[in-house]
Amino acid sequence: MLQRCLDMLAPALEAPGAVVVDCTLGLGGHSEALLDRFPESRLIALDRDKEALRLSGERLAPFGDRAELVHAVYDELPDVLDRLGLTSVQGVLFDLGVSSMQLDEADRGFAYAQDAPLDMRMDQTTGIGAAEVLNTYAPGELVRILRAYGEEKQAKRIVSAVVRERDKEPFTNSARLVELIRDSLPQAAKRTGGNPAKRTFQALRIEVNGELTVLERAIPAAVKALAVGGRIAVLSYHSLEDRLVKQVFAAGAANTAPPGLPVVPERYQPRLKLLTRGAELPTEEEVAENRRAAPARLRGAQRIREDAE
Ligand SMILES: C[S@@+](CC[C@H](N)C(=O)[O-])C[C@H]1O[C@@H](n2cnc3c(N)ncnc32)[C@H](O)[C@@H]1O
Repeated sequence: MLQRCLDMLAPALEAPGAVVVDCTLGLGGHSEALLDRFPESRLIALDRDKEALRLSGERLAPFGDRAELVHAVYDELPDVLDRLGLTSVQGVLFDLGVSSMQLDEADRGFAYAQDAPLDMRMDQTTGIGAAEVLNTYAPGELVRILRAYGEEKQAKRIVSAVVRERDKEPFTNSARLVELIRDSLPQAAKRTGGNPAKRTFQALRIEVNGELTVLERAIPAAVKALAVGGRIAVLSYHSLEDRLVKQVFAAGAANTAPPGLPVVPERYQPRLKLLTRGAELPTEEEVAENRRAAPARLRGAQRIREDAE
């Protein structure tokens, strides 16, 4: 869906000196495409993962000072722009979730298919890993996380097994958790939805990285950072992320006047125009090319007015 993101941002990025922020640099594929397609633009790219910054630093080196890479969590965007002396930008891109590099590096613990330390931190320099979550959280809290972030219907059953086992010996590695989940589910639940550990792993990853809490602050901050005419595109990979993006965009595109006003004063008028009707989905060809794109949802919006004073 990269091409559609570029097309969506294009009207805002063609002018000389336009600034675009890639909030999820990863391996730099989208950033590189932005720099190639908009040769007069400048890129600021954030990632909380130092390894991602190192690898994409090499990839983007040929663009010299057109690309500025910053180690930051994306809700720090206002501070990053402040430090760079920028008051607004013309484009923002989010490609949420984990990168293929993070999934493929077995020792990061994101993948349930390989045995690895249960870590899952995108920024390994801070915070607690997935093992500590599993070993220390109250059972009720674990059930809430598995249900809310993993949409796991068998959350209670899995958490009872986890609590029983962690009392014998704390969890350190993924294989023991995967086996426990498989053993604790009824046959019928194992027949649907792929690997039975998938939902629990997603839930732990979201909790470990505070993904939704951060996103909840980051999307409004990114909208606020847009200059009038600026555009934002967000690629989400599960319904909770997509719902959050949808709500922020819908609120920005709404007229907030109290009912019954004969003329709507400027300050109540929408700040955003939606660029997508609902969310755009990947095509069959895109999914055939890259299975990880299957759950992707793209939403975009354009800033059409300053904030009310
Ligand atoms: C799906 S990948 C992006 C892939 C990228 N578009 C590319 O072309 O390679 C998501 C990246 O965002 C980073 N990330 C996720 N949440 C973040 C956050 N809250 N702040 C900063 N970076 C984050 C991850 O570390 C990961 O490298």
